[in-house]
This record gives sequence, structure tokens and C-alpha cells, in this order.
Amino acid sequence: MYTNTFFKFQLLWTLFLITIHLTYQQSEKQLIIKTVAGPFTLTEGPHWDESTNLLYFVDIPEQKFYCWNPKNNKLTHTSFNSPVGVAIPIANKKNAFVVGCGTNVLELTWDTSANNTNPITKVIASVDTDRDDTRINDGKIDAKGRFWFGTMGEKKEEIIYKRGSLYRMGSDGIPKKMVSPVCISNGLTWNHKNDTFYYIDSPTRQVVSYDYDYNTGDINNKHVIFDLNNHNIPGFPDGMTIDEGGNLWIAIYDGGRVIQVDPSNGNLLKTINLPATKITSVAFGGQNKDILYVTSAKQKLTNAELQEQPLAGSVFSIEGLDVKGTSMLAYKMTN
Ligand SMILES: *[C@@H]1O[C@H](CO)[C@@H](O)[C@H](O)[C@H]1NC(C)=O
Ligand SMILES: *[C@@H]1O[C@H](CO)[C@@H](O)[C@H](O)[C@H]1NC(C)=O
Repeated sequence: MYTNTFFKFQLLWTLFLITIHLTYQQSEKQLIIKTVAGPFTLTEGPHWDESTNLLYFVDIPEQKFYCWNPKNNKLTHTSFNSPVGVAIPIANKKNAFVVGCGTNVLELTWDTSANNTNPITKVIASVDTDRDDTRINDGKIDAKGRFWFGTMGEKKEEIIYKRGSLYRMGSDGIPKKMVSPVCISNGLTWNHKNDTFYYIDSPTRQVVSYDYDYNTGDINNKHVIFDLNNHNIPGFPDGMTIDEGGNLWIAIYDGGRVIQVDPSNGNLLKTINLPATKITSVAFGGQNKDILYVTSAKQKLTNAELQEQPLAGSVFSIEGLDVKGTSMLAYKMTN
């Protein structure tokens, strides 16, 4: 009798373990990670344009801006004469983009259906004009159509600390300094209520939040909401986006992963490993905004590391996350 019950228990326990195992395998299996473009040197700033169903991204040191059409897998690019940190469509203007290039904010005119190595550009504004050791890095558009972008200290590929700033540029085209100094201005996004701004200065290894005034665009009351040190995560937080549920998705540079974080309590919800260590940024895209596009870099990898991660520098897509993103916005210009 005793042995019989014990046997039954054993059997049930085994079945339970098998179920857990299969469920785990199943949920892991549902994630499909593909390479959609590259590898390039340092891809960054993925932007899904839902009005055209195109994915944009930059290759910073190669001074290129790419457009990828998932429908026909066509890739086109345009190029600049300085490192390009960010490029985003301008609202209500055909073939027009706001671009952070070197320390200039440009208006680019480019018909993305063909490559153009000598596009028309116009300087809208210049930042960090008192120094020559910074360049514009990541940027994004807020709910009112303002362009937020930051700079980082960099000379001859060496990072220089505390030389950068975060700027906000409204429709008047005049940048205003919002946070200074910063080291490497990176990920930025806002919550759905439009009252909180999330921001990453990579070397701090932290994600911070600010109260955000939707009408004025002002920010204040900084709080640390996530610290890599408290979770034993290697590397640096880089690009960032937010999902429909209000959770943050953060690319971990030199950490080979993307993490999902609940900003309300700082809980680490999910970790997705990728076949490259230098993960630079993330954006939701696809017709249903349920594909996570992930950019990466191969710069500064040793030959041995490059052999281990031949896909480094690619743009990846992750499908099967069961999570949706929200609309990525375009820059609103006065004319
Ligand atoms: C345009 O550039 C892409 C890379 O962005 C390249 O694959 C393609 O061959 C180029 N097309 C032409 C016509 O040169
Ligand atoms: C926040 O701004 C976005 C973009 O303008 C808008 O679609 C959304 O409705 C706003 N959210 C709230 C809660 O007002």
C-alpha cells in the first residue's frame, strides 16, 4: 500500500516535472530570433515607421542611415560626412528626416527607395559648440513631436566622461539643454500617461526616471528605477523602448542581452540572450508592433570574439514575445 502510494506520487511528480520542462521548452521555442540586416560596424537607433511599414536604423561610425523594407527584404542607405547617431522621419513632410550627425542637427531629404551617397541636407541647429570632443548619440521624439537627443564625449574612439548633454528641440528648431553633464547619452522613452520620462546615461549602469510635463516638455525629480549592479548584470544599459503594458525593454551593451523591466517596482521581468555581446538598442515594429528589432555592434571586438559571434553588428528581429510596442513618433517642425 505504502509503496503503491509512493509510486503514484513519484509518477505524478515525474509527470509534473516533464510538463514544466515541456512548457519551458515551448515558451523558449516560441521565440524566433532572426538576422534582418548586416552585420555592420555599429548599428543603433532602430525606428519603426508605421505609416510606411519601414524600419530605419543608423551605423554610427560608418556614417550611414539605413532603411529596411521587411516586405521585400530591400535595404537602402544614405551617407554623411560625420558619425550619425540618430535619424527619425519628420511629420507631414515627404522623404524628410531629422538627423543627429556629429554635433549638428540636420534636415535630410532622401527618397528611401534608392541609395544616395550624396543626399540633400540642411543644418537646423548645432550643439556643444564650446567643445570639439563630443558627438550626438541616441535620440527620440516625444508625444508633442519634440526631438530629444543627447551627446557623448568621444575623441579618436576614446570615451571622454562628463562632456555630453541631453537636449530637447521643439518645432522652432532651437535645442535646449535639459541634463548636463552626461557621459554617454543613450536610451530614452516616455510612459503612456505622458507624465514620466525614462533615461539612460550608460556608464552609470542605471535607468532613471523624471517627472515629465507634457505641455512644456520640462523634466525634474530624478529617481533611479533600475540598477544593473543590483541584478548582477554585466555591461551597460544602452537603447530603450516601452511596451503596451508600460514595461521597459533595454539593450545591454557588453551584456549580450535585452531585458524587460517593470519601472513601477524595478523588477527584472525577462532576459533574452542574443548571439552578440554588444547589444545597442531596441524598437518594436512590424504591422502589429509585436516584433522586437534589436541593433548590435562589432566594433572593438577582438578577432577571437568575432569568430565566436559572427553575427555581431547585425540587426536582429525577435518574434513570439507576446508583447506589443506603441507608435514611434515623428518630429513636428514648424514648416
Ligand atoms: C544599396 O545599398 C545596399 C546596402 O544598403 C546594398 O545592399 C545594395 O546593393 C545597394 N544597391 C545598389 C543598387 O547599389
Ligand atoms: C500621450 O501622448 C500620445 C502621443 O501624442 C497620445 O497618443 C496619448 O493619447 C497620450 N496619452 C495620454 C494618456 O494622454
